Amino acid sequence: MRSLISILDFSAEEINELVNTARDIADHPESYREKCCHKKLATAFFEPSTRTRLSFEAAMLELGGSVLGFSDANSSSAAKGESMADTAKVLSCYADILAIRHPREGAPYVAANNATVPVINAGDGGHNHPTQTLTDILTISREMGRLENLTIGLCGDLKHGRTVHSLVEAMARYEGVKFVLISPPELKIPGFIRFNVLERDGIPYEEVSSLDEAMPKLDVLYMTRIQRERFDCVETYERLKDTYILNVEKMAHAKKQMCVLHPLPRVNEISVAVDSDPRAAYFRQVLNGKYVRMALILKLLGEAERNPVRQTIDISGYLRDRTCTNPKCICQVEQELPHLAKLTDPRANIYRCIYCEHKV
Ligand code: NCD
Repeated sequence: MRSLISILDFSAEEINELVNTARDIADHPESYREKCCHKKLATAFFEPSTRTRLSFEAAMLELGGSVLGFSDANSSSAAKGESMADTAKVLSCYADILAIRHPREGAPYVAANNATVPVINAGDGGHNHPTQTLTDILTISREMGRLENLTIGLCGDLKHGRTVHSLVEAMARYEGVKFVLISPPELKIPGFIRFNVLERDGIPYEEVSSLDEAMPKLDVLYMTRIQRERFDCVETYERLKDTYILNVEKMAHAKKQMCVLHPLPRVNEISVAVDSDPRAAYFRQVLNGKYVRMALILKLLGEAERNPVRQTIDISGYLRDRTCTNPKCICQVEQELPHLAKLTDPRANIYRCIYCEHKV
């Protein structure tokens, strides 16, 4: 049995297979209408969501399955202090597959280690969002006709934007991909992506603060929202919130063949006038999210049927004497979770928390 917690849980070949299945679903939806009859998806959303939760639900319904769940942490037993591990064991009794969104980084990982059904990470704090990445990859593939040899600009809140982190991890595996990271100095990409992915694998990237200057070289522009809810200081958010606004004038400097993506929700970072530009792909991206989640549900349920045993994690190689200090990590609130660290960069002797990947 497999879960999807980080986009790196899947190989590049597996992602390509999912993209192909999703394309086939888009072309022949009727062939998939009964694939998940009598199967149930539970959506456990401890954080707000429109697209992700509803696209999971729409995906399961279009496969002929059923859905149950909650969309507000206060209406679940977490409000009474139930642990993620217990919640995962309980939900496994009601559903065949779980999609979990949680403000605590590493929470879906803990769920996957305790559930007896596959778990999908539907976003954990400012850490990862692998199903948005599958959506993004399908969109890039459909819009640009390729996933290789692309210059990808990521613009906005690269520090807290979990969709950015998972997308860089995934796209760094394709030949000829370069990144232009466009952010104010306060919102640069975090160390677990900079060192574990970009530096370690020698991926070409540059960090700039001007969107105007970056525009002419981009094949893909990935705009993101400044993530108000992840800021400790409201004044900093207020100062940075309107740093980047993509408008028609800026689009005039972009290539003719390029696409603009946004995981949505948009706040103010793309003016509405850009929506009618044929290169604006963000609403087509939403529809792609449903197709790729259908493909994902099929894959994980199929694997669980063939091999119902959960993969147990081997913690023998993990260090136990380092304490994670990330205040947003799941291990800060769940007392029974051991603090464990893994060696992620042997040359620099860097250890990271196994739940949230912060340096310890
Ligand atoms: C993103 C998220 O939740 O991280 N939205 C989404 O899932 N489509 C992006 C965001 O909230 O800014």
